[in-house]
Amino acid sequence: MTDSFEGTTMTNHKIALIPGDGIGKDVTEAAMTVMDTVAATAGFRLQTESFPWSCAHYHETGAMMPEDGIETLRAFDAIYLGAVGWPDSVPDAVSLHGLLLPIRKAFDQYANIRPHRLLPGVEGPLKSGAFDILCIRENTEGEYSGAGGRVHQGRDNEVAVETSVFTRKGVERILRFGFEQARTRRGHLTSVTKSNAQQYSMVFWDEMTRALASEYPDVTVSHIHIDAMAAKMVMAPETLDVVVASNLFGDILTDLGAAIQGGLGFAASANICPDRSAPSMFEPVHGSAPDIAGTGIANPIAAIWSGAMMLHHLGETAAADAVEQAIAATTEQGIRVRPGSNSTDEITSAVIAALKG
Ligand code: NAD
Ligand code: IPM
Ligand code: MN
Repeated sequence: MTDSFEGTTMTNHKIALIPGDGIGKDVTEAAMTVMDTVAATAGFRLQTESFPWSCAHYHETGAMMPEDGIETLRAFDAIYLGAVGWPDSVPDAVSLHGLLLPIRKAFDQYANIRPHRLLPGVEGPLKSGAFDILCIRENTEGEYSGAGGRVHQGRDNEVAVETSVFTRKGVERILRFGFEQARTRRGHLTSVTKSNAQQYSMVFWDEMTRALASEYPDVTVSHIHIDAMAAKMVMAPETLDVVVASNLFGDILTDLGAAIQGGLGFAASANICPDRSAPSMFEPVHGSAPDIAGTGIANPIAAIWSGAMMLHHLGETAAADAVEQAIAATTEQGIRVRPGSNSTDEITSAVIAALKG
């Protein structure tokens, strides 16, 4: 949207903010301070509206978000989310199924993009040096399909079933997304399954990967099982380029990806609706971190990087690049080399100084 603001014509992006719970609130504030700074320099406006949807909101209203929450969000150009969950007061299965997961599904944000790079100056736990992995996680079906149920609860004959659902449409579109990403990078796609044990869904995924590979002759493809992949990400992360995985496998691998890049405070994420028929959502990989909430030491870099991914999606490419460069300049100075070595505010100020610098 373009509007007239103080006599000038300025692009205006409408952003829905959902800070959520715990450190989600701190890192959202940090990210938005950086976003506003870069917007002022680059000459666009982020028109934000904040929604208090969270576990506290659940206690006040009986729901994580209002009934028309999804429709409210639909009017925005993008959604920025901090983190959701406060398991001591609301069961995780209630809070996450009441807010985060319905947004991903309702807006068909099927591509969850999670970059894992060792930023300059950051000491990861591995001996190996640089790596640059782009994990593409299927985000709407698979193990998170929600198909299942429980019967005979509390009795000896109790049964709980939760069925993974893999559709041709769902698998094909995430694989194509992965192939397309690989094309723009180093031309290699690693498809992660468990087709030695899961003989229906994962064999189907492998077959789809092989069938599509012929359409992308410029991309080389590796097939690997999730267990071997967990080891490879530790032993040889530099050999990986684009990684495509199902919802649950991608979830687990991206916490591992976060770990090898120095910790959860470094891992960014974008939930993309590729055809842009609905808003996409940007959030760090990490959760609400109840163990450090309120201490002011949450690392905001994952959140700021997620903000850069949002700017990129909104077409503000120069601003997105400037934020990524400012993050790198900050870590290069030795800020946040060790977890807890700088406060959220100190890191945010350093990124802003690098942006202005
Ligand atoms: P978590 O990611 O919140 O925390 C795991 C560990 O990483 C903790 O020790 C935490 O202190 C540390 N950590 C996380 N982010 C950090 C940061 N920015 N800086 C420094 N350290 C950081 O995972 P969890 O403990 O399993 O989950 C806590 C809550 O968050 C649960 O309710 C969970 O369901 C929820 N959760 C939400 C999201 C989301 O909203 N996207 C993601 C993951 C977990
Ligand atoms: C993530 C989170 C969520 C997921 C949880 C909170 C439901 O772990 O975004 O990685 O599993 O997708
Ligand atoms: Mn996760």
